[in-house]
Amino acid sequence: PVLVVDFGAQYAQLIARRVREAGLYSEVIPHTATAAEFAERAPRAIVLSGGPSSVYAEGAPRLDPAVFDLGVPMLGICYGFQVMATNFGGSVAHTDNREYGSTPMSVAAEGALLSGQPESQTVWMSHGDSVDTAPEGFAILASTPGTPVAAFENTDLKCAGVQWHPEVLHSEYGQKVIENFLYEVAGLDADWTNSSIIDEQVARIREQVGDKKVICGLSGGVDSAVAAALVHKAVGDQLTCVFVDHGLLRQDERKQVEEDYVSSIGVRLVTVDARETFLGALDGVTDPESKRKIIGREFIRTFEQAAADLVAEAAEGDGAPIEFLVQGTLYPDVVESGGGAGTANIKSHHNVGGLPEDMTFELVEPLRALFKDEVRAIGRELGVPEVIVSRQPFPGPGLGIRIIGAVNEERLDILRRADAIAREELSTAGLDGEIWQCPVVLLADVRSVGVQGDGRTYGHPIVLRPVSSEDAMTADWTRVPYDTLSKISNRITNEVDEINRVVLDITSKPPGTIEWE
Ligand code: XMP
Repeated sequence: PVLVVDFGAQYAQLIARRVREAGLYSEVIPHTATAAEFAERAPRAIVLSGGPSSVYAEGAPRLDPAVFDLGVPMLGICYGFQVMATNFGGSVAHTDNREYGSTPMSVAAEGALLSGQPESQTVWMSHGDSVDTAPEGFAILASTPGTPVAAFENTDLKCAGVQWHPEVLHSEYGQKVIENFLYEVAGLDADWTNSSIIDEQVARIREQVGDKKVICGLSGGVDSAVAAALVHKAVGDQLTCVFVDHGLLRQDERKQVEEDYVSSIGVRLVTVDARETFLGALDGVTDPESKRKIIGREFIRTFEQAAADLVAEAAEGDGAPIEFLVQGTLYPDVVESGGGAGTANIKSHHNVGGLPEDMTFELVEPLRALFKDEVRAIGRELGVPEVIVSRQPFPGPGLGIRIIGAVNEERLDILRRADAIAREELSTAGLDGEIWQCPVVLLADVRSVGVQGDGRTYGHPIVLRPVSSEDAMTADWTRVPYDTLSKISNRITNEVDEINRVVLDITSKPPGTIEWE
């Protein structure tokens, strides 16, 4: 892999993604890893990410200096650029000359790193210190008003660096810097493609599972759907999928899984209709946390029961129990939970709403190395229907936490119809790419007076909550065009009798969360 060294800021994952987008497999490695640990992972190149502002600060993260002696091509970014400069004998000045945000940059010499780039461009800066002397043997390639040495390279050593952040979209030619490093400086060849990902994962799954049986809980979401499609490609009918219909799904969701997905992938599916159980358990419950706990608990019970039934069936058939459980754990989960052994379980339990601690299944996690956009891309390649691949994130507790007040069939039906209209209109307006997700929330205990035709209405308000986000940790409300909002509002109030008011949530996260409960 190309190893991206994490110096503790949030840039490493983004850089890893950009390297993949450039066509090479990448992994994040903590800066505390020893040179031997680096070598063990056979890196083809190493990227030092951004980090805290001063390399001289007490407690500033260090890198084992022997990493520089491995002879692996290296790119330093921001803090990593300064680490590289000091390591090779250059110097970093502690200045008061902070640069933050969009900054004009001039290319002095293209070299290999900046080849094919315009002489003046805008880059994204975030630093206090600057490299004031480039190490000997390093050519200075660029400068900014506050930074005489903004980029350098030594093509003999295959080392290069930039003070700015090429991984963020605000740096105009950022991706080109990353590509130039990989292909012009390091001399690597692109080989990370959708089909290479699929081939590699299929081979791994076959090796892990052998001729044993596997189950997978499908949620209707993209991760479990793609994970199951990969496992199915690898071991065919050794896989059985379980889909729990808890009654809190959106319109057509069950149909999408049962018909579209199953027919295109060819996977064997058991649907458990647990609507009565869930709605019974939720009867009269209004507290959000209680709802979440009840839904989580019922989900586990239902899934366990379905798995037990399948095991019993399997044991009667050819006597082989089910030993493996598929989970759609993604790479960010792995990195965020420390990336080490034992951490995956906590996250994957969370993925299916919590599995019992004494679970006897061994986990199969074919998406563990992948980012969400890669999962979507291979999903398309595997033939997973577009409606599932491009789906917005949808919470496990489903519509249960989008009805403010008690959950019942009648209210679910109202919300489902309104939600379907909002989704349809947002898609028609071409906003799916811009909107991370748009919860539609029913204020079931609130009523207001309206007028329709000649008559008075006394209906419920519905809230649109369109948000834009990179990772759901923070979010901003999406500036949906007024025309689209107007269309949604008109259609919902016309087509859903119980609703006489549509309101827009314009709160960012923080302070609001994305979901209302
Ligand atoms: P919040 O509301 O915390 O949501 O801003 C952040 C993201 O997480 C989703 N979400 C959940 N996903 N199980 C899930 O699988 C849950 O219990 C759950 N609660 C919230 C939410 O839709 C958003 O994408």
